[in-house]
Amino acid sequence: MISSHLLESAIKTKLKDNPFFHNVEYHTSLTSTSDRVKELAQSGAKEGTIVLAGTQTAGRGRMGRHFYSPKGSGMYMSLLLRPNKTRNAPGLLTACGAIAAWKAIYQLTGTKVDIKWVNDLYFQNKKLCGILAEGQFDCNGALSYVILGIGINVTRPNGGYAPEIDDKTIALNEIKQSSGIDYVSLCTSVISEFGRLYHDLPKTDFLSIYREQSCVLHQNITYEREGKQCCAKAISIDDCARLVVKTDDGRIETLESGEISLVRTVL
Ligand code: BTN
Repeated sequence: MISSHLLESAIKTKLKDNPFFHNVEYHTSLTSTSDRVKELAQSGAKEGTIVLAGTQTAGRGRMGRHFYSPKGSGMYMSLLLRPNKTRNAPGLLTACGAIAAWKAIYQLTGTKVDIKWVNDLYFQNKKLCGILAEGQFDCNGALSYVILGIGINVTRPNGGYAPEIDDKTIALNEIKQSSGIDYVSLCTSVISEFGRLYHDLPKTDFLSIYREQSCVLHQNITYEREGKQCCAKAISIDDCARLVVKTDDGRIETLESGEISLVRTVL
């Protein structure tokens, strides 16, 4: 088992000339890498500070859900962003994270996985990666920093995932079986891809991949709005990475965030 110090040095060496990268910490175990980034942000850490963990005891997902982070089985990473005004559209920041993870996975496995709006990556209808952006605002309501958390399932744990998610979850080693996934390459590839996309904002050329690889576009979906279940068809993704839908009663709605479900046709 490679030591935390060696992992940090390998990542620092690979990213030494990367303009986005500032520093990295690797911990064998944390409650959540995003908790650690929050501590660092509050003590003035710079943008491009990255925290990784071998396992998370209280990994967070969207909608208050737990993110299972079994030991040595995933890439659990949080990045500190201090976006200026041209970069502070939250939907675009998370979309950059999704595309950075998508590109890194493509480079390492040769597989184009699906993007499920808002920011999950799926393969064969099973979840491979989740992304959570958390913003911190100052007393004037201005965004002071964003913590972007990315969790990628790398190796299926011995004994599988928790029973409630086991058949809905997939890991990179199940996509690319021939040789293992190199953890350092995966981390550095996600960080450098993210840095490039983030640097180019507000240019959003990356949304072409977001649209092409979407498993939601042109599909029938359901979602909840004001406590009511809505049925709609996903018709486009706009330039802020929002999902434009046509509801069953003919209205056009633009969804900024939240959970949608695909309606699967059983033949
Ligand atoms: C989701 O699927 O709902 C989002 C999951 C985000 C998980 C990552 S893992 C690294 C970072 N730390 C956390 O506690 N959550 C994010």
